[in-house]
Amino acid sequence: MSQILVAWLLADRARADVLAAAHDGLDDEERARAARFANASTLRDFVLGRWLMRSELAKWTGALAAGWRFPLDAHGRPIPRHRDRTAPDTPSINLSHGGGLVAVVVASDGPVGIDVESVDRELPSRRLDRFLSQEEHAALAGLEPLARRERFWRIWTLKEALLKARGTGIAGGLASIAFGFDHADRPCILRRDGADDDAVEWRLVECRPTETTRLSIACGGIGAMHGEVRVERRTAAMD
Ligand SMILES: CC(C)(COP(=O)(O)OP(=O)(O)OC[C@H]1O[C@@H](n2cnc3c(N)ncnc32)[C@H](O)[C@@H]1OP(=O)(O)O)[C@@H](O)C(=O)NCCC(=O)NCCS
Repeated sequence: MSQILVAWLLADRARADVLAAAHDGLDDEERARAARFANASTLRDFVLGRWLMRSELAKWTGALAAGWRFPLDAHGRPIPRHRDRTAPDTPSINLSHGGGLVAVVVASDGPVGIDVESVDRELPSRRLDRFLSQEEHAALAGLEPLARRERFWRIWTLKEALLKARGTGIAGGLASIAFGFDHADRPCILRRDGADDDAVEWRLVECRPTETTRLSIACGGIGAMHGEVRVERRTAAMD
């Protein structure tokens, strides 16, 4: 059975010493990337994201935080590697920043993806059928504006979490996956077109870390179906 952990913090409440440690902990490539961010909050979120991944992996594995590196795969997904550990021991990890939060999901095995978004905002002004499957589009059409907005952001975070777990990111095709909700309002996958991982079972978990945010995770593999999911706010890192 997998163990799954979601850890999150509020970026604008990160303690000064945490931010300083986060900057100090960047490797050369990350430093070069950080230097290219023009926007201060984007830079802060990036730096805190790397810090949160390092500190959660250190707690999880016991391997020094400073030893973690995150080379990117062909789709841009950071893959955790430790200078003193071998890959088979390494848990899966994924990161999201949104709605003022920085959040990571760690899983003992199987692919994982996470997405967090602010939900107190209007739907994207661009055509929704670019993002939604036909089924999702039809289900939204019958809803009142507030319920529609709520449903859209739930679907959106679920989609991104699943596409990130599969490793393709949005290039995997937002409209190629259709989500629905069962009689108990639990999310489920109605359809996946062209997926080369159809054999993989996905567990979907949603939570609302703050009033204005929605967070979803997707965890793959048989072990993930029944594993415990802990959601923890990293209060000690915040003022
Ligand atoms: C990853 C992606 C879904 C980002 O979504 P987002 O809601 O804007 O941002 P989030 O904060 O939730 O996630 C960003 C994090 O996801 C991770 N990530 C990046 N690419 C990823 C991928 N292919 N799969 C899984 N995780 C990925 C990174 O940790 C990134 O944070 P970092 O840049 O600080 O390292 C999106 O940018 C994407 O799909 N990228 C892949 C490339 C792609 O498909 N490009 C198509 C251009 S049309």
